[in-house]
Amino acid sequence: MQRTVDKKTFDVEQVRKDFPILNQSINSKPLVYLDNAASTQKPQHMIDQLCHFLKHDYANVHRGIHSLSQRSTVLLEATRKKIQNLINAQSENEIIFLRGVTEASNLLAHVLATKINPGDEIILTEMEHHSNIVPWQMLAQANKATIRVIPINDLGELDMDIYKTLLNDKTKLLVFSHISNALGTINPIDAMIDLAHQYNALTVVDAAQSIAHKKINVQEINCDFLMFSAHKLYGPTGFGALYGKEDLLNTLPPFHGGGEMIDHVTPLESTYKNAPARFEAGTPNIMGAIAFSASLDYFNQYNLQTIEAHEQSLLNSAQEQIKKISGIKVIGQAEHKASILSFYHQDIHANDIAMLLDQMGIAVRSGHHCAQPIMDHFKISSTCRASFAMYNTHEEVDYFINALNKSIKMLG
Ligand code: ALA
Repeated sequence: MQRTVDKKTFDVEQVRKDFPILNQSINSKPLVYLDNAASTQKPQHMIDQLCHFLKHDYANVHRGIHSLSQRSTVLLEATRKKIQNLINAQSENEIIFLRGVTEASNLLAHVLATKINPGDEIILTEMEHHSNIVPWQMLAQANKATIRVIPINDLGELDMDIYKTLLNDKTKLLVFSHISNALGTINPIDAMIDLAHQYNALTVVDAAQSIAHKKINVQEINCDFLMFSAHKLYGPTGFGALYGKEDLLNTLPPFHGGGEMIDHVTPLESTYKNAPARFEAGTPNIMGAIAFSASLDYFNQYNLQTIEAHEQSLLNSAQEQIKKISGIKVIGQAEHKASILSFYHQDIHANDIAMLLDQMGIAVRSGHHCAQPIMDHFKISSTCRASFAMYNTHEEVDYFINALNKSIKMLG
């Protein structure tokens, strides 16, 4: 990073220059990248730092006394510290490296099986991503537990009154997303966790969609576990983190067995290290960690509230303008909503709209967004989704709305 960023000012044109991929044409039109809820683009700083690491510092970690291994290990562990700071965890031991949210929820569903007995209940919500449904169903089936579901209303908000009625002494887990990937709804995270804790249930937060948009303080919200993927925060794919309260992590069995997670191994039995090593068998995604470290350095130059305000103003403008397009319906009209705009046309398939938008250089996602229960709620099969990040502009929003209008006219 060559320049110093004034945290108080936010110059989106300057930000765009830091993301080389944005400066290109798609189908002879300037790229307008609005698929940030699926994955964000990468700053030059991340690309440079990863190359630098590979040219100068790379070796396996935690295993060698040679200099390169030492250097790699220090850089890898610095990432853990940065993630601790990002979410204000009490200790870096509470940060487990893994592939992302899908691996984190599978890990938790596996290791928490020891705490789930027949007849116990697991609460999740109607707005979860499949990655935060299927692993819990597998756990419930294996342990003869029951899944209870907090429904959404037609605005795409959780029904908190029903949630309260679902809680009881059999509730062992509350599993929910901070922000819905298909609706944009921001859930009342503090209240939900407090209520679950009144019944001594453990709480698991999927922060995949919030990590790049909202300040997260795990000590303040007091969640037991929180998970996110680096690629949603301008970082690499295949890398992410699971936060867990340290005491709790050390009562849980390991997930994968292998090197580095053990204290001592005999052919017949093994003892295990404490977290985080306990949950990090094998060579970790070293390149992922180093790249994410650089992404965090880049991101931390900015004031998150400034980024959030910028993204909210893009969302507000898009929402106001899309209302005027006849035949389009927006799903997700929650009072508290992040920069995700999910919509469909009553007569035109979402894929057809997305394809025409692509012809005009615009990247949006279409489909069920791995959230089929939401689609079922609204009795649709798919939506188009535009999702905004720190580098998007008001000009792009206007161009997108104009292109959407044109697409509807061509397809209608
Ligand atoms: N979970 C990502 C999305 O919503 C892939 O698109």
